[in-house]
This record gives sequence, C-alpha cells and structure tokens, in this order.
Amino acid sequence: MEDYEPAESDSSRIGLTLETYILEGMLGRREARGYFTSLLNQLALAAKMITSRVRRAGLVNVLGTTGDTNATGDVVQKLDQEAHETLLRVLGRRNHCAAAASEEEEDIRVLSTAQSAQYLVVFDPLDGSSNIDVNISIGTIFGVYRKDHDGPATQADFLKPGRELQAAGYVIYGSSTQFVITTGGSVHGFTYDPSVGEFLLSHENIRVPVHHATYSINEGNAGRWAPGVKRWNEWVKEENPTQGRPYSSRYVGTLVADAHRTLLRGGLFAYPADAKNPEGKLRLLYEANPFAFIFEAAGGVATTGQARILDLQPTTLHQKVPLILGSKRNVAEFLRFTDEP
Ligand code: AHG
Ligand code: MN
Ligand code: MN
Repeated sequence: MEDYEPAESDSSRIGLTLETYILEGMLGRREARGYFTSLLNQLALAAKMITSRVRRAGLVNVLGTTGDTNATGDVVQKLDQEAHETLLRVLGRRNHCAAAASEEEEDIRVLSTAQSAQYLVVFDPLDGSSNIDVNISIGTIFGVYRKDHDGPATQADFLKPGRELQAAGYVIYGSSTQFVITTGGSVHGFTYDPSVGEFLLSHENIRVPVHHATYSINEGNAGRWAPGVKRWNEWVKEENPTQGRPYSSRYVGTLVADAHRTLLRGGLFAYPADAKNPEGKLRLLYEANPFAFIFEAAGGVATTGQARILDLQPTTLHQKVPLILGSKRNVAEFLRFTDEP
C-alpha cells in the first residue's frame, strides 16, 4: 500500500469514518499492512463498546468499586474492570495482538502466539476512575508496539522506550466521545456519532498551539513540590497584564481530559515529582508515553523535567514518572524555573 500523507486540512475528508481512514492508510503509516490496520480497527471497536457502557454507567449497575486494588494500589472501579476485559476480549480475537500490558493487571496478558500476532498493546482501560461516579470526563489510553522477534511475547518486550511506539491514542468520554490517534506522522480526532455507530473525522491534523495562557496542575500538592515548581506556580499567578499573566488554571483530575484540552488549546499540564510521589504519580508505559508520542507528533513537548519522556528506558511495567506536557513555550517557561539550582 503506497504511503499516504494526508494534506494539511482537506475539509473534504471531514466526516470520513475512522475505519475508512485506517483502511486507506491515511494515518501516514509507512508500510500499512492488514495486521496493523486490523489491530487499529479492533481498538476502535473496543472504544465503541466501552463508550456504550460509560454512557449507561449511571443506570447499568457499574458504579462503585469492586473492592479490589490494581497493580499500583488504586481502588478498582467496576468500569475499570469492564473496560479492561473488553479490551482484552476484542484484542484477543484476530490474532494480531501478541500480548497486552494493562494498568489493571500486574503482569502482561499473552493473547496470541500466531505468526500474525506481531503487535503489543499497552493500555489504561479507564483513566480518571475517581471521576466515574460524579459524571466527569474519563478516558482510555493506548499504545502499540511491534513485537520484534518470533515466539511468545514476554514482559521484557514491553520495556521499550516510547519513541518506538508504532501508534498511540486515546478515547475521551466527555460531552461527546472522541477517538484521537497518531502513528507518528500527524494526529487526527474522530467524534462518535451514536446514531450511526461510527467515529467520524472531526479534527484532521491536530497541532498544539505554541503557547496558551492556561496551566493544569493539582495545586493541592503545592506544599510537596520542589522549590523550582513552587516558583513557577507563583510566576504563572502574578499580575502582569503585558505578559498575559495570571494564566488560567484548569484541572479536571482525569489525565485524558486535561491532556486533550491542552492538545487542542495549548498550555501546560504537569504532574511533577513531589515529596510524597518522588517518581510522580502517572505511569510511564500507558499514560506518559502514549501522550508524549501524541504531543510530539502534534508539535508539542513531553518531559520529566530532566529528560524527554520518549527516550526513557522503562525498567518495570507500572513504573511512575513525572510528566510535564504541552506547548513548546509553556514547557520552556516551566523548565526555566525548575532548571535553576
Ligand atoms: P487512573 O484513573 O487511570 O488511575 O488515572 C488517574 C490519574 C490521571 O487520570 C489524573 O491525571 C491523575 O490521576 C489525577 O491525580 P490527582 O487526583 O492526584 O490529581
Ligand atoms: Mn490513568
Ligand atoms: Mn486507569
């Protein structure tokens, strides 16, 4: 299949289904092949199944917790479990996904040992769990790697730097359900139309604005931040009309929602290390890396504050990492304060 680099923003494609966009290789894949295309369509199917559950969460007794805790000690909400099982079931069907690493399981789940099973998927099935019961936006995050050897997948296969991702994306269950995906070239957004049961192209070639006067951080942690973060946090709130400060503060508490707003509008999202979480709170494999891949593809930046997220060499499946994500200039402002001794 020939390479297909979508034009800047050809409005004639708006409204195309996600399935068509993937099938016609319009995600700018180098060697788009059946297996990869099929895998991405499986992820879209899982997103449709999860969104139908999320939209009925208040009605179909899926609110509340299962009483269990997951690999990183978070209380598991029923919808987390449902979304986790939906993704495993769908990804296990077509023998293109060799294994999955989920926030909801300690170890990887081998899904296929077929020759065609050439991909590995990492996912956070339900991001923003604490917001499920209060009807605030939640999401699903995924990343796709290639399995670069024969034989069954192992945990070691998942410990790849994020720069080796073949695709990354997320679903946001907000005022509408949107599916955002990139294979490293450009980033495209599709909005779910429940009347036809399809994701339709709504945001072609998303680019992160170079700056926006908005920041997103949980200021409840301010007392635990490093001095440079505290100084940055004071600076963004100073009265300085000529420099457009104070910035606006926006914090949903769902990474997918805060990152999606930052991707479209610009600004900065930060979950830095602090005295309580010296490695930060967000997980590298299925939260930080997919968003770092998306933001860099859209012209943004993703750093720990010391290093590019996509260059980190993971050592464990659920390791945490500080995450500073957003517009080039907003991240540069942040680093000016945190780079100081
Ligand atoms: P998850 O629900 O998958 O465990 O993720 C929750 C994460 C992320 O969505 C969000 O950015 C962060 O937790 C919010 O943490 P605080 O409540 O500590 O701000
Ligand atoms: Mn999460
Ligand atoms: Mn989660």
